[in-house]
Amino acid sequence: MIPEQFIQELLNRVDIVDVIDKSVPLKKAGANYSACCPFHNEKSPSFTVSPTKQFYHCFGCGAHGTAIGFLMEYAGLSFVEAIHELAKNVGMVVPQVESSSASREADAANKTIKLGLQETLQQAANYYKAELKKSQRAIDYLKARGLSGKVAAKFQIGYAPAGWKNLQSVFSNYENEALSTAGLVVENEQGKRYDRFRDRIMFPIHDQKGQVIGFGGRVINPEDTPKYYNSPETPLFQKGHELYGLFVARRAIRDAGRALVVEGYMDVVALAQYGIEYAVATLGTATTPFHITKLMRQTDEIVFCFDGDNAGRTAAWRAAMNALPALTDGLKLRFLFLPKEHDPDSFVREFGKEKFETEVQSAMPLSQYIVQHLIQENPLNAQEDKVKFLNEAEPILRQIQAPRFSLMLRKRIAELAEVTDAEMQSLLKLPALNNAPAKATQRQSRMQLSIKKRFVLMLLMQPSLAKSEYLNFAQGFSEEDVLLKASIHAALEQPQSKPAALLHTIESQVDTRLLHEIQRELTLFDEGAEFKLEFEGACTQLTKMALQKQGNSMLEALKEKPLSALTVEEREMLTSITIRKK
Ligand code: UTP
Ligand code: MN
Repeated sequence: MIPEQFIQELLNRVDIVDVIDKSVPLKKAGANYSACCPFHNEKSPSFTVSPTKQFYHCFGCGAHGTAIGFLMEYAGLSFVEAIHELAKNVGMVVPQVESSSASREADAANKTIKLGLQETLQQAANYYKAELKKSQRAIDYLKARGLSGKVAAKFQIGYAPAGWKNLQSVFSNYENEALSTAGLVVENEQGKRYDRFRDRIMFPIHDQKGQVIGFGGRVINPEDTPKYYNSPETPLFQKGHELYGLFVARRAIRDAGRALVVEGYMDVVALAQYGIEYAVATLGTATTPFHITKLMRQTDEIVFCFDGDNAGRTAAWRAAMNALPALTDGLKLRFLFLPKEHDPDSFVREFGKEKFETEVQSAMPLSQYIVQHLIQENPLNAQEDKVKFLNEAEPILRQIQAPRFSLMLRKRIAELAEVTDAEMQSLLKLPALNNAPAKATQRQSRMQLSIKKRFVLMLLMQPSLAKSEYLNFAQGFSEEDVLLKASIHAALEQPQSKPAALLHTIESQVDTRLLHEIQRELTLFDEGAEFKLEFEGACTQLTKMALQKQGNSMLEALKEKPLSALTVEEREMLTSITIRKK
């Protein structure tokens, strides 16, 4: 436990430019510093570090954070390690708060459990690997599927022999809870324990550090079911967050500048066998925004290649929909559709690497896929079809935050439905299109921000301007009001802080996406000569809005009563509000 105040002081004391420059050489660019982003592949720099605001932001992949965040993301340090590292740099001593003994014990217990699980899983992986060497049947199976010993070793493939309690020979205490928590041992209703994986080819699943966090096991006998059996979710393993093969593929993804997302374990392994080493697989779940965000840290191009069957097509569409909120303009998403009878494994085996990569090159861009899918679902024959088409396009357009991508798609959809942009806007109640030339979009976007968000930006830049009466501006419970309230409180408490420290303070209270947007806008924000004027203008406008809101609710209350029941004051108030509204 490190006191919050110390963290704020630290963030105000360190210089993020020094911190980042040590690992990623920065160039001065106007008021900021810039470089090619270390979190995704790019050729022109969109990674920006602001010395006044004390944070970094990448306009390509959206990576952003404080000096603490940078050390965590880039150097892989834990939060506490990052604090210690920064404190050392500026000669501060990290104070320790006595945490309650209960929470300390809980922390320690949690840590022990995780460590125990990790060790258990690793031991099991070693055992399965050794067993593969001993089983000619398992080796023959893998050979028959075209895998070399080298590739099997690379993915640390193993074999769980037939039998109910083989793990007894590995773990001295078969009753140990870690075995069931790790999902290696199952307990039936009678309390009898047995191995989860029996007579299966074992694919260990690694986290990004290369530690085993789970397994997938494939049957050898085609009659056995289910075909694949996976570890259950455990404290170490969440299917919606992990990608099979990512640890192995990391380098290849960076080198190729691209990641390929497939459905199956065998697809990843077979592609690697054929020299396509940048593939990863979702673990029997739909592609989630977590998956996308994780991959965006490594590359700016993601190609989805699912099976050619109907299930594969459904999975592709779900992946596309789940990707929408994570999209940025710098990210290229494409979709490769294989012939019906193929999956990536069978395709690469039949046609080879070159043909597969040609297909990858010509995979369909996301925007085209969306449009094609919409038309397929709603063929535009009659006027009424257009309504349905637009209705289905609406939620898709709403979820996209990337301005250029959104603009392009919207234009295309309007064109197809044969409506003008103005018509589409009023039909779908979408925000006004930003037609500014590409270069101006960054600057322009600030002007489109709501007044509350702009006010938050100004407070974060100059917290000493905050007054407690501004809390009146945030009387609702919308995400935006929560943000505004949190920012005012933070500014009142630390009027001398830099934006990074303030952002850190409000971070846990505010909707992540909104916070992300604020940080992006803050990066673009420069305090021009009109700062004071703009601030005062915003105050006036927000005061007006607050009064109006108060007035409205009062009006509603007064309207409930018959006129004769109103007091004189109430009548006066009613008249004054009605007049003001006109
Ligand atoms: P597929 O059924 O497409 O299998 O499942 P596959 O990848 O082509 O496997 P092979 O080639 O027959 O060996 C794709 C993925 O769905 C999950 C697994 O992650 C699998 O890799 N799955 C499939 C399960 O979790 N359980 C199953 O029973 C089947
Ligand atoms: Mn297959």
